[in-house]
Amino acid sequence: MKLLVTGGAGFIGSNFIRYWLEEHDEDEIINFDKLTYAGNLENLKEVQENPNYSLVKGDICDRKAVDAVMKNVDTVVHFAAESHVDRSIQDAAPFIKTNIEGTYILLESALKNNVQRFHHISTDEVFGALDLDTEAKFTDKTPYDPHSPYSASKAASDHLVRAYHDTYELPITISNCSNNFGPFQFPEKLISLAITNFLEGKKVPIYGDGKYVRDWLYVEDHCRAIDLILHRGKVGETYLVGGLTEDISNLEVIKKIVSIMKKEENMIEYVKDRPGHDRRYAINSGKIRETLGWEPQYDFDHALELTVNWYKENPEWWKNVKSGEYKEYYKKQYA
Ligand code: NAD
Ligand code: TYD
Repeated sequence: MKLLVTGGAGFIGSNFIRYWLEEHDEDEIINFDKLTYAGNLENLKEVQENPNYSLVKGDICDRKAVDAVMKNVDTVVHFAAESHVDRSIQDAAPFIKTNIEGTYILLESALKNNVQRFHHISTDEVFGALDLDTEAKFTDKTPYDPHSPYSASKAASDHLVRAYHDTYELPITISNCSNNFGPFQFPEKLISLAITNFLEGKKVPIYGDGKYVRDWLYVEDHCRAIDLILHRGKVGETYLVGGLTEDISNLEVIKKIVSIMKKEENMIEYVKDRPGHDRRYAINSGKIRETLGWEPQYDFDHALELTVNWYKENPEWWKNVKSGEYKEYYKKQYA
């Protein structure tokens, strides 16, 4: 395969590129990335000399640049996005631009260049919020009901991807996954922020009552799911990926990290809630399990320990990331 990976310098994209070159050493990857605050070439040091890997710095909203890299690839894996809910609340503009317009430009180019598969990475947040203390879970039939500018922009991109399949027969697949965690995650998301704050001796901010529920997915298990979808998934289908945890609250997640890192619970600080905060996400991953044989290979506690150890062993990575622009963002978000 010759893959065009968009957003490959980000958290999941870089884990995916390292995974793919390891598992499929005959395949070639072009990583097309704008290198925003979230894109970091340090994430790809391990593969930068690999002859099957190349980087093109560019913006998915730049039609010419996209057309140039789309030539001679057979598969697109589209990760590039503005990905953080809190930043979308501060300023929705880059979310609308990259997530909606950028996806449209990629779809046009993929169609023009007869790409054989366009795989779109999306999120369970497009389905909105579930109530606490119910058995309800998202499936690929759940109606869309996004609440943040981030999730609304991802929902719009999903609709566009499906429209290009239904209207122009572009061979697409979509995966909507739950909250990822693992090595190389930018420390603005809950788990990576908590671990690095504890390592710095700082408190961890918990929004509202802390009783919000996310469905957690270890990033390597996510990469394996995308592999299965690219090789065996059915064109036009949507797969939901997640289901590692059963209704664990943010507070319980942070308490687990407190215990792994031998910290004190008084290092948890309740702060102002996020506006429009979705109460609960839960994924029914039955479809990908039954049709493609996917299942998570890590249990949550073990994956959390691996993640804590990775941040402990790579202080230069996160200290570098937490300098500069991050400081401004943190001040504004947690003032
Ligand atoms: P990330 O923020 O870590 O990385 C995003 C990458 O996209 C960065 O390398 C950035 O430079 C690049 N990028 C941003 N705008 C671009 C543009 N205009 N042109 C080219 N490149 C651009 O994101 P992530 O956490 O790795 O998420 C990857 C994808 O997975 C996103 O589409 C996100 O919506 C989706 N997703 C993430 C999670 C999660 O828990 N992280 C959960 C569900 C879905
Ligand atoms: P986050 O990692 O931002 O992912 P998402 O909003 O996409 O689910 O947040 C995960 C959960 O943790 C969410 O309920 C918000 C909460 N949260 C906090 O309580 N404190 C924080 O500092 C952050 C970043 C998130």
